[in-house]
Amino acid sequence: MIGLFDRFARPLLRAFDPEDAHALTLRALRLAPLVRAGVDDQRLAIRVFGLNYPNPVGIAAGFDKGADVPDALLRLGFGFVEVGTITPRPQPGNARPRVFRLDADEGVINRLGFNSQGAKAALERLSTRLGNGGIIGINIGANRDTADRGADYVRLIETFAPVANYFTVNISSPNTPGLRDLQRAHALDDLLARVVAARERAARNAGTTPVLLKIAPDLTLSELDDVVAVARRRRVDGMIVGNTTTSRPASLRDPKAKEAGGLSGRPLFRLATRMLAETYVRAENVFGLVGVGGIDSGAAALAKLRAGACLVQVYSGLVFRGLGLVGEIKAELLRALETSRVESLSDLVGIDAAAITGEPWPGD
Ligand SMILES: Cc1cc2nc3c(=O)[nH]c(=O)nc-3n(C[C@H](O)[C@H](O)[C@H](O)COP(=O)(O)O)c2cc1C
Repeated sequence: MIGLFDRFARPLLRAFDPEDAHALTLRALRLAPLVRAGVDDQRLAIRVFGLNYPNPVGIAAGFDKGADVPDALLRLGFGFVEVGTITPRPQPGNARPRVFRLDADEGVINRLGFNSQGAKAALERLSTRLGNGGIIGINIGANRDTADRGADYVRLIETFAPVANYFTVNISSPNTPGLRDLQRAHALDDLLARVVAARERAARNAGTTPVLLKIAPDLTLSELDDVVAVARRRRVDGMIVGNTTTSRPASLRDPKAKEAGGLSGRPLFRLATRMLAETYVRAENVFGLVGVGGIDSGAAALAKLRAGACLVQVYSGLVFRGLGLVGEIKAELLRALETSRVESLSDLVGIDAAAITGEPWPGD
């Protein structure tokens, strides 16, 4: 089924505007009678953030913003699904066109700006699937026109605690003006204090839900020092490194590279992996990391683990490689276990981090 979809539907979808192609893919996933991918090899299982993941390959936020198809994605073999970003109130996002495929570079630029159907619609959908199992993360963000961004995150944690296996506090999307300022030490400290307090309050009814912080790959290293120190002090459960970049590597060839927005996909890989390793050496195993940005092969996913990720997420790679990418990554990870003669994937996590931080800065 996955192979068929990749062979026939994907070339056709490339003829559409990327946002229309995405809407058609979601519709196909909603309707297709998907056969469940085989049970994962036990050796792919990993325990992180207090949760048991059947395999470490997740789908990144932005693919299923409204929690329309989480079960279809789990059936395709993802070890976890991060839905969102969800904002409290519905909002349309920026004017179209706002997603651009950089075919020559295998990258994507988006400036969607948190188009969201709002919390109520997503909560209804997630409540009806509650008994289905599988790990669902909920990525939360503030409305563009909100007076108090922190209050938006608090409200979303209170709303979604009963249906979330973990939360991602997204303060790193480049398309909501001012959002990334929440990464500054003082603002972040204030935000995380409120978020963690909301999580503790919700825990009385729903149990403790891990909170992860998703950061931009564009932080300076001294900003990263502050972010990791605040995250540790406020006892968040982990970090996701990272979101799209506003930078444009000199290597880009596609004329659409001049579009404004966040760049993802292959051209993001080196920067995101460097920031992951930099985060790993600062986190000192106090919490786990999710590596995301430019994974388009099993080798790229393995490189993320070795740079410091316990889990990985993919999005843009699916656009260029198809849904078969999930299986390809899992097969490569199993091969890596055999060739490196270690017992579990956690033995590979971070083994290259120190070396990576000594390399010349990507793009220099
Ligand atoms: C079209 C599109 C929409 C996205 N929307 C979100 C979002 O709503 N929230 C978020 O945290 N990240 C969002 N992202 C970022 C991805 O989750 C991921 O961090 C980034 O794309 C890097 O991974 P990739 O190179 O595998 O795509 C989006 C990415 C794309 C391409």
